[in-house]
Amino acid sequence: GYQGLAATPPMGWNDWSYYQCGINEKLILDQGRALVRSGLAAKGYNTVTTDDCWMTKDRDASGNLVSDPQKFPDGMAYVGRQLHAMGLKFGIYEDAGTQTCGGYAGSWQHYDADARLFAKWGVDYLKLDGCNVPSVPGQSDEETYRQAYAGMSRALRDSGRRIVFSESAPAYFQGTSDWYTVLGWVARYGNLWREGTDIALGQESGAAKWRSLLGNYDYNAPLEKYAGPGHWNDPDFLLVGDRGLTADESQTQMTLWAEMAAPLISSTDLTRLSAQALAILGNRDIIAVDQDRLGVQATRVVHTDTHDVLTRPLANGDRAVVFLNRGDTPLAISAPASALGFGNAQHLYGKDLVTKRTSRYGGSVTVQVRPHATVMLRLHAS
Ligand code: GLA
Repeated sequence: GYQGLAATPPMGWNDWSYYQCGINEKLILDQGRALVRSGLAAKGYNTVTTDDCWMTKDRDASGNLVSDPQKFPDGMAYVGRQLHAMGLKFGIYEDAGTQTCGGYAGSWQHYDADARLFAKWGVDYLKLDGCNVPSVPGQSDEETYRQAYAGMSRALRDSGRRIVFSESAPAYFQGTSDWYTVLGWVARYGNLWREGTDIALGQESGAAKWRSLLGNYDYNAPLEKYAGPGHWNDPDFLLVGDRGLTADESQTQMTLWAEMAAPLISSTDLTRLSAQALAILGNRDIIAVDQDRLGVQATRVVHTDTHDVLTRPLANGDRAVVFLNRGDTPLAISAPASALGFGNAQHLYGKDLVTKRTSRYGGSVTVQVRPHATVMLRLHAS
């Protein structure tokens, strides 16, 4: 993977879906402290990213980006130092085009200078969005995006600091015939990429959040061939703990994201996390699936209107298997060992990673799944 970074999917927190532009220095550092205090940082959630709107609309006289003096009175290097002092990593947002999605100064034609500035500020992770990338005459947009992301990739490398690179290019081609072309090159330049639509915002309804997380999952689930150690598909933030989502729905997002080896990036208010939400985000067995060093994104082996089944191999020979009830009524979901990747095994053994109950199954596995819920098992054949 790029710069030898992100051998397993990145984990952390980002302000965007919960706060959008309503951010400031204190809020960011308070969320960092909450990551540490809750124990989530020790479980791997170690990168705090300031998304859009941290800067001013224009560059300074020497062409440098400037942090918003009202929101970040002590500047971004200070934020980086404070996060590092907490044992955390510092992530920042920019955009490959002329302006960010929020209308702030973009990096277009400034990749080298911006990468040097980020390195100087102690940035460990860059999310480079793809709004406002200009069309270049005589060249496809797909090629313009490729050159832009290649440009920042080279600039980050040349900065001398190892910075995890999160790309957004595929998100700007979702639904077009170039989507797969873009997905085909992102791993050359970075460590993870948003492949599609933004997840629902914190203020949206529970129903909208459920639809949105299921929608992002549906786009991401068939992309397993693009993921692997150092390079990951990113179906966007974890809403786990947000108002409006039921406990089952929050658990379903955590389970599906881990099964897909997705980045686990919370975007909620960590200072007011319920015990239930903390338990979902902090489930060591499920984090271990996400972070498994084999780095294989699950294959979705069953996909119907009512339910899905996914399976992925793990480094120790086990498999993580997920049964998803997409609908509004309880379901019994079954799958034969062969469909789960166990050939003609007559018996399967394993553990439910939420209830921690262990079971022995015959040559097929049947589970009862509540509406909008999942069952996640870690199974072995002998
Ligand atoms: C885009 C991205 C979001 C967020 C906003 C910021 O919509 O997909 O994740 O970064 O821009 O403006």
